[in-house]
Amino acid sequence: MSAAEGFAVTLVDVDEPTLDRLVDAAIIDAAADEVTASVTTGPEWSPARIAWLRELHRSCRQGLNGPAGQATWAILAEDQIVGAVRLKRTVVPGILETGIWVTRRARGQGLGGAATAAVLRTAVSLGAQGVRADTTADNTAALGILRRLGFAVVSGKDGADVEALLIFDTS
Ligand SMILES: CC(C)(COP(=O)(O)OP(=O)(O)OC[C@H]1O[C@@H](n2cnc3c(N)ncnc32)[C@H](O)[C@@H]1OP(=O)(O)O)[C@@H](O)C(=O)NCCC(=O)NCCS
Repeated sequence: MSAAEGFAVTLVDVDEPTLDRLVDAAIIDAAADEVTASVTTGPEWSPARIAWLRELHRSCRQGLNGPAGQATWAILAEDQIVGAVRLKRTVVPGILETGIWVTRRARGQGLGGAATAAVLRTAVSLGAQGVRADTTADNTAALGILRRLGFAVVSGKDGADVEALLIFDTS
């Protein structure tokens, strides 16, 4: 188990047994588009999307300094896997990108916010100077989390995409 303790969640490394549980949770209780890239057409889960999800977490096991430049964790709440969160290097030194998904039945209980707060603490402990996130203007829950945690939120030109940035106060 690694590092980050949240208020109601723990972030855990995605070893093989955890990956099996994470994939089950995702397939049963999250939309494929919320969890994977659009590797197959249509929003449904497919073997290719499941393979993509497994490969993502396996390829990130060496963390930010590994070949993927990315680290992922499963979100554990009351011994259940309820989602995943990640940190990835960006082209801007010191700035990491984050992303998160939470199972449908676990949403609206503060777990996404707690997991995001936990991953920010992890980013600080890893020496990051800030974290960015991309979402959409209609993602009320994600925007609520980002604003409450102090991110500056800027709309893209088309009004649909939103970029959020938090620079850590190290003073
Ligand atoms: C975004 C997501 C991670 C939020 O997880 P969550 O556990 O529901 O988040 P929380 O319970 O901490 O709620 C976050 C905020 O959104 C609000 N909220 C939660 N569900 C909501 C809903 N369905 N409609 C409106 N607001 C909602 C909460 O009241 C809270 O607001 P607050 O911070 O002002 O109190 C989750 O909805 C999800 O996995 N969505 C699909 C993937 C995704 O969009 N990821 C984010 C991409 S950046």
